Amino acid sequence: MEEKLKRLGDWFTQSQQTVILTGAGVSAESGLSTFRDPQQGFWAKYDPMEMASPEGFARDPHLVWKWYQWRRQQVVQASPNRAHIGIARLQSALGVKLITQNVDGLHQRGGSEQVCQLHGTIMRNHCNSAQCDYSEAVSNTRCELMRCPECDNDWLRPSVVWFGESLDPKVIQFAEAESYQCDLFLSVGTSAQVYPAAGFAQLAKSRGARVVEINPNATALSSRADLVIAHSAAEVFQRLEAQLQLS
Ligand code: OAD
Repeated sequence: MEEKLKRLGDWFTQSQQTVILTGAGVSAESGLSTFRDPQQGFWAKYDPMEMASPEGFARDPHLVWKWYQWRRQQVVQASPNRAHIGIARLQSALGVKLITQNVDGLHQRGGSEQVCQLHGTIMRNHCNSAQCDYSEAVSNTRCELMRCPECDNDWLRPSVVWFGESLDPKVIQFAEAESYQCDLFLSVGTSAQVYPAAGFAQLAKSRGARVVEINPNATALSSRADLVIAHSAAEVFQRLEAQLQLS
């Protein structure tokens, strides 16, 4: 690991533009569950089409709401870990661009000011009706499912992107442009299975960027990465911070 960290530190120093893409593994050491861990991941215990799709919400909005309220309570209780904090310091010291699939807001709470949130945020609600643009910050993680206070035509729902829904085109455009332009791309704590996020590393590589994966487990990206650091994100970023003298 020492030698790999040294190489990554050198690449950071040489880089004109670095992009970091994060996934659920970055928040694992804050106590939040990943999705695809074979035993403990959400999708080992819950059906994603029931809990995270427009069809699932239409079938049983109360169940879906309850699940998100439970997840919100966990998010509120969690604290950013050394990976969130290290990434924030890299951003302010070196202008690194951050793209995340996470909806938990821990990057922002760890000090990141600019975060491209591909899949939305769990700490907001909006009206489920496409005709209504009501949106609000979550203020109560224990309340029951509510009708939209503005139109009263539909339910409020969490402002996360569900399976089968499109990502915000402006957000994709930003993430693709940054991936296209960067010369160093880090894929951290993601299984690299969900598109379009999983395609950004390929996009960067096709333009000649160095691609680095930080993940204790092998993923779909591992064999194509220029460097794989198979350790926890918190450990890697803590050591990288010390090496680059950012703390
Ligand atoms: P996954 O659950 O698919 O992958 C999490 C990855 O984190 C796995 O590859 C783990 O090996 C890795 N991991 C676990 N602990 C780690 C640690 N301490 N340090 C570094 N890596 C660690 O989660 P995502 O790739 O984020 O979408 O999933 C992508 C999307 O699928 C999510 O945003 C979510 C889900 O369905 C939506 O909810 C729209």
